Amino acid sequence: MTDEKKYENILYEKKEKVAAITLNRPESLNALNTALLTDLRDALEDAEADVEVRAIVMTGAGEKAFCAGADIEELLEKSPVEASEWSRWIHGITTYMEKMRKPIIAKINGFCLGGGLEFAMACDFRIASEKAIFGQPEINLAIIPGGGGTQRLTRLVGRTKAMEMLMTGERIDAEEAFRLTLVNKVVPADKLDSEVDELIKKLLSKSAVTLGIIKDAVNRGIEMDLEQALQYEAECFGSALATEDAREGLKAFLERRKGEYKGL
Ligand code: COA
Repeated sequence: MTDEKKYENILYEKKEKVAAITLNRPESLNALNTALLTDLRDALEDAEADVEVRAIVMTGAGEKAFCAGADIEELLEKSPVEASEWSRWIHGITTYMEKMRKPIIAKINGFCLGGGLEFAMACDFRIASEKAIFGQPEINLAIIPGGGGTQRLTRLVGRTKAMEMLMTGERIDAEEAFRLTLVNKVVPADKLDSEVDELIKKLLSKSAVTLGIIKDAVNRGIEMDLEQALQYEAECFGSALATEDAREGLKAFLERRKGEYKGL
């Protein structure tokens, strides 16, 4: 199945329960302009609403880049007020990604810089090619990240390394990104697709509704203090137990068979 809507700046394909979104401006290393971000937002909303879709993969077109960040030409045109407004709009999209009930995997094939890293960090998994390069280079342009980079990088790698990356603007390679737990896994470039396919296979074998509950518990809980977060976990635990899939999973264990989940 292919989506009816035509996108000009992304490729969007839905196949075998997976929606694949490819940032598609390879001539500018998939730099994020408003038109591309609008396409991306619409595709994400479509993927979330489509009951056939169980997982989303985001990647970049071409050999060279996942995404080299915000479109610098477009940025130069913005007034300070417009820039703040734009930043808030992008926060809306990245926050939406975290609120989506379906897992999102960033398949990082090359440069993953600035806004590219910010979008990758809003995904649930980051699988990187050995060739991938990461960084928040905004300081080199005398600006700062506006798509969540100062906050999500700090939450993912800790204050020490985040401050270093943000203030020096230096790039790190995939191995270093792995050491910092910025990515889940690093694989040779020719194994990137199969690695992501393996991960998707694992995710598709689980209960879709329960995956959604985990995502929500983690992403909301991390913003609460521990007492509140544990309270929230207890509520999520109750919700998980109330699903048909949980009945099936628990029974299947006792009957020594594999659970068959319907996402209900
Ligand atoms: N916005 C707009 N255009 C961009 C871009 C961006 N963020 N990143 C790359 N491009 C364009 C380049 O201008 C160039 O266009 P051209 O062929 O019309 O000249 C094309 O993409 C290829 O990039 P180029 O710089 O020639 O490739 P490279 O291999 O020499 O360098 C990078 C690759 C990623 C290191 C370099 O492009 C770069 O530093 N990009 C900006 C990264 C950044 O600062 N991001 C944060 C933005 S807020």
